[in-house]
Amino acid sequence: LESGCLSIIVLGASGDLAKKKTFPALFNLYRQGFLCPSEVHIFGYARTKISDDELRERIRGYLLHGKDKSDIPEDVSEFLQLVKYVSGSYDSKEGFLLLDQKIAEHEFFKKSHEGTSRRLFYLALPPSVYPSVCKMIKQYSMNKSDLGGWTRIVVEKPFGKDLESAEHLSTQLGELFDEPQIYRIDHYLGKELVQNLLVLRFANRFFLPLWNRDNIANIQIVFREDFGTEGRGGYFDEYGIIRDIIQNHLLQVLCLVAVEKPVSLKPEHIRDEKVKVLRSVLPIRDEDVVLGQYEGYTDDPTVPDNSKTPTFATVILHIHNERWEGVPFILKAGKALNSRKAEIRVQFKDVPGDIYKCQKQGRNEFVIRLQPREAMYMKLTVKQPGLEMQTVQSELDLSYGQRYQGTTIPEAYERLILDTIRGDQQHFVRRDELKVAWEIFTPLLHRIDKGEMPVIPYKPGSRGPEAADELLAKAGYVQTHGY
Ligand code: BG6
Repeated sequence: LESGCLSIIVLGASGDLAKKKTFPALFNLYRQGFLCPSEVHIFGYARTKISDDELRERIRGYLLHGKDKSDIPEDVSEFLQLVKYVSGSYDSKEGFLLLDQKIAEHEFFKKSHEGTSRRLFYLALPPSVYPSVCKMIKQYSMNKSDLGGWTRIVVEKPFGKDLESAEHLSTQLGELFDEPQIYRIDHYLGKELVQNLLVLRFANRFFLPLWNRDNIANIQIVFREDFGTEGRGGYFDEYGIIRDIIQNHLLQVLCLVAVEKPVSLKPEHIRDEKVKVLRSVLPIRDEDVVLGQYEGYTDDPTVPDNSKTPTFATVILHIHNERWEGVPFILKAGKALNSRKAEIRVQFKDVPGDIYKCQKQGRNEFVIRLQPREAMYMKLTVKQPGLEMQTVQSELDLSYGQRYQGTTIPEAYERLILDTIRGDQQHFVRRDELKVAWEIFTPLLHRIDKGEMPVIPYKPGSRGPEAADELLAKAGYVQTHGY
């Protein structure tokens, strides 16, 4: 990491995202020595009028979340001492001038380091205030140090509701900051096994010749949650499962599963390839979509009684290029289902001239489980051990918990925040990428919003609507034993 003053400003410091994700991620980075106390200051900014200590107390509990009680680190208090609070509204000149002054004081104090001055603004805020906040930052709180340095902005979805609104937002931000200053987080890109996808594909001779339409029958990218909208009904109802999960998280995963080999590992080379594959996605056909809503969803007082917002969707995408023509990419996401899981399931075609009749037992599959319990396994046919010549489906299994025992897998946010400090945009969504992602889904979303697509009720705790399984079978997915 470069040296010099680093100010991390968390806007929306008292909100949920900041408390649950941003501050804990910063704390973990601090514990691992990535945030050096002699260089770093963290500022919380929000409207609530509270003191530094009150903010510290509010976040203290979250820092220890999920950690063993016996492992309560004494460095929590040290870390919290780095956190200061500034109160102000999101469109007030005074607020942002005050913020600027506080940051400058800190920079002056640390100037003895003769380093550069870096300002990272993390917008843990609803996107409706992004434009005004960015304007305020630009006018009053940017880095102006003559020692050099930078100003960067971190934002998170939802980036608009459709192509038009997303482009509008992009233009507004683009007028204030250059693309290399804007970090659009999709936290799925920070997950360990998502970061492993390109390595797997391009550093293994096994996969290079197999990863195409000649061998692969279909690919599923699945997200399931075993709970409903839980207090987020108001937000969720405006967006629905496609905007919440599929258009961003699952589509990003699809990109990495489907991209051609980038020229190099430079962020721009990788993102160029992602844009290319997205541009090859054909318009979505109605018959490739199944939507559902779990029973009881509208009982949430923040959800209108007549809401038709889908909480479940299966959408099949077709990629029109040499590698993938004819291979359905099945994106599936649902809330209030029977399990919590995110996985990629690559199903291979049948063995030609199958003398063992092993097809009956299922096809070869390669599964990458993103969560929980990260793992990769290959379903393959072997001889059942014993005197008889019988075949059986078994697994080559790389479970991270066993293989990498004792290694802590970093949280997605931790990794991504570190990237923003390092200035590495590889795992962030570029403006043109975002635009194509919206182009793919906007016509379908508009039809859903107008009530033109059927939404099938399903029981909470189930697999979702049966029509989704029927669609999968129609797309050529062959159910394997035990799945
Ligand atoms: C968020 C969605 O982006 O991702 C939530 O808004 C969802 O609805 C969450 O629960 C899932 O993230 P993860 O990392 O728990 O799979």
